[in-house]
Amino acid sequence: MATQYVVDEKGFYGQFGGAFIPEILHRCVEELRQTYLEVMESESFKQAFNQLLHDYVGRPSPLYFARRLSEKYGCKLYLKREDLNHTGAHKINNTIGQILIAQHMGKKRIIAETGAGQHGVATATVCALMNMECIVYMGKTDVERQHVNVEKMKMLGATVVPVTSGNMTLKDATNEAIRDWCCHPEETYYLIGSTVGPHPYPDMVARLQSVISEEIQKQLQEKEGRDYPDMLIACIGGGSNAAGTIYHYMQDERVRIVLAEAGGKGVDSGLTAATIHLGKVGIIHGSRTFVIQNEDGQIEEPYSISAGLDYPGIGPMHAHLADSKRATVLAINDDEAIRAAYELTKLEGIIPALESAHALGALEKIDFKPEDVVVLTVSGRGDKDIETYLTYND
Ligand SMILES: Cc1ncc(COP(=O)(O)O)c(C=O)c1O
Repeated sequence: MATQYVVDEKGFYGQFGGAFIPEILHRCVEELRQTYLEVMESESFKQAFNQLLHDYVGRPSPLYFARRLSEKYGCKLYLKREDLNHTGAHKINNTIGQILIAQHMGKKRIIAETGAGQHGVATATVCALMNMECIVYMGKTDVERQHVNVEKMKMLGATVVPVTSGNMTLKDATNEAIRDWCCHPEETYYLIGSTVGPHPYPDMVARLQSVISEEIQKQLQEKEGRDYPDMLIACIGGGSNAAGTIYHYMQDERVRIVLAEAGGKGVDSGLTAATIHLGKVGIIHGSRTFVIQNEDGQIEEPYSISAGLDYPGIGPMHAHLADSKRATVLAINDDEAIRAAYELTKLEGIIPALESAHALGALEKIDFKPEDVVVLTVSGRGDKDIETYLTYND
């Protein structure tokens, strides 16, 4: 039987996934597990979700043929423009879906973690839209390097809580959000921003983001006369934009999958977030997956120039895709990502998010054939990263 890349009935992707949670959260996670598919498959959810994606987010996002970049790399390169969504990234697809699920479950208080601030902004946005209380946990390092997003969250009515444990980034924000959840399990809905966490979160987030690959199928059919590309490329922090990009193609072996993780200063430098290259199987935030850890099993502090990618774990779906060799995973270092961001800006007039710049950095490491149809997801726009880009101006 062909390897399955979607979740199994126990919440696993091969050996990865599951729900390793403290007893106190068992009821909420179980309630969500029993609810999410029924809600997502209901006509009323589909109608509300699709309408908001269309009228509020601005979907479908364009599939743009990048002519000058295609010439440079010798292939037919299309960019899936998630940067053009309302709030500037793919994160809003997921928050729209989960806020509808939270509403259905009668929850009134929303908590979230954020790294780059995009998920925080997307959560604060849907909470404003639905008149819900919103508390966002964010590492203090990220509060400083993504301060524009912090101001946006506040303007949207969210409470932003700076987290000062660890190296004060995404992992630490997630720890704090889980701590809050444990203290208020009944009334709180934890709106996770990526394909991480205990089952059913990775599957739920992947399904909500799968609108990306559904659109790619239609758009390629129109532009290329076939509904599949030869290759898909996306960056991976926790894995949600990549999950959305590949969802409808995971079982289609004609489509190569390339994932770009953050190499930081280099995979062997000690300053990296290249989880799939370096990680060993462990448990992080409720899920069994690859984790960057020391010999005693202590999680190591990750590093990346990009706030959205410096996470020491990875979604269990992606761990399985990598482990089974279905996906090729490349580590893109800070300087390679910055170079790629400047290149996209100069050749196509698009300033990408630093996270997406890692996907672009993969291009120079791949041998293409001129007829290869390649789709690369630009997961977000670079507004939030302008200061970092200017610091590294070449
Ligand atoms: C623009 C953008 N792209 C990518 C990511 C990484 O997250 P994921 O791997 O879940 O897509 C983030 C996270 O904050 C982001 O803001």
